Amino acid sequence: MTRRSDIGTAVIGSGFIGTVHIEALRRIGVRVVGLLESSPGLGSQRAAALGLPTAYASLAELLADDAVHVVHVTSPNELHHPQVKAILAAGRHVVCEKPLAMTSEESTELVDVAAASGLVNAVNFNIRFYPLNQHVASLVRDGGLGDVRLVTGHYFQDWLLFDTDWNWRLEKDQGGALRAVGDIGSHWLDLTSFLTGRRVEAVMADLTTFIPVRQKPAGPVVTFSTERATDTVPVEIHTEDVATILLRFEGGARGSVAISQLSPGRKNSLAYQIDGSASAAAWESERPEQLWIGHRDRPNELLIRNPALMNAYGVAAARLPGGHVEGFADTFGAAFTAIYDDVLAGAPSPDRRYASFTDGHEEMLVGDAVLESSRTGRWVAVDRPS
Ligand SMILES: NC(=O)c1ccc[n+]([C@@H]2O[C@H](COP(=O)([O-])OP(=O)(O)OC[C@H]3O[C@@H](n4cnc5c(N)ncnc54)[C@H](O)[C@@H]3O)[C@@H](O)[C@H]2O)c1
Repeated sequence: MTRRSDIGTAVIGSGFIGTVHIEALRRIGVRVVGLLESSPGLGSQRAAALGLPTAYASLAELLADDAVHVVHVTSPNELHHPQVKAILAAGRHVVCEKPLAMTSEESTELVDVAAASGLVNAVNFNIRFYPLNQHVASLVRDGGLGDVRLVTGHYFQDWLLFDTDWNWRLEKDQGGALRAVGDIGSHWLDLTSFLTGRRVEAVMADLTTFIPVRQKPAGPVVTFSTERATDTVPVEIHTEDVATILLRFEGGARGSVAISQLSPGRKNSLAYQIDGSASAAAWESERPEQLWIGHRDRPNELLIRNPALMNAYGVAAARLPGGHVEGFADTFGAAFTAIYDDVLAGAPSPDRRYASFTDGHEEMLVGDAVLESSRTGRWVAVDRPS
């Protein structure tokens, strides 16, 4: 294969994010050859709606199709491990949505299987691929902020604010033991480790469930839907709505992050500030075209995303000239461009800027430390067995 149009990709799941994957793949010139849904009926319906040629009846049928070289997994979290394992066993490159798995035992296995296969393996921590975040990552690596000292921020949403708000993520057996931290906090943690080049060493975490009983609709629910169902059953909730976490990063930097799915008015607000010994950088996902750069001895700067003004990595992730606003869906195209360069090369590159299974596993290990810290009320070191 020499061109992206030689590559055939199948997508598992066509809900909120699967649809974004399909659109981004088409935009970068990859052929989306089919999809797999939870049932053949839904698959046919969604394939017709999205203009896809094939709705596979099962994962086995999908993997038997020689036209499929890469598979994107955008199903609910509990399905990631078994589906990814089968995809790698069938010799296909794989792009999996976050979180990589339900537990760090599962993600350990996936890291090992992926490494043994030599296949391209990616976890879709897409927020790395806002052009200004790529710019910041290089700025930090080039010493542009000086020594990184303090990393602070939040990830706030409001779509689970009411006890009538429902989604599969609320149920431990489908979403995992961590909810707000696993679902959105993992993005913040991956992003700040990527930007600073430092992993989290230890955490002190406080997790809270403000809504211990929710009204589960009797029928199916679409992600981010705010419609109120009338026919509901009360269900106890055992995952956190809110987390506050103190962080120690490698190299001595300190940090803190607040994570909430109950913050009224914040639809999808990820914010960070990185304070270095020379300058600071701050960014927020609801204003993704602006990067604040703080100085002590000269006026602060506001860099508006612009290929003419960013470093090479910022430029590589950008599609449009400055002032022509790019956003969430564009990050998928930028991430997939980097991932499919490796697909064309046939193997993962050592200097990749997209998140690999190792990075996805890293967030599962940080999640384990967060859970243990919240249970014990103590600082917990991230346990990375050698
Ligand atoms: N990177 C991001 O920004 C981002 C954003 C949203 C969701 N996600 C991740 O994407 C995944 C999906 O989330 P979503 O919000 O799109 O959920 P969703 O509920 O909107 O969509 C899930 C889809 O998977 C399908 N599905 C369920 N069981 C299946 C099966 N056995 N086989 C095939 N398909 C099946 C459902 O029918 C649905 O179409 C989750 O892991 C989530 O964490 C990532």
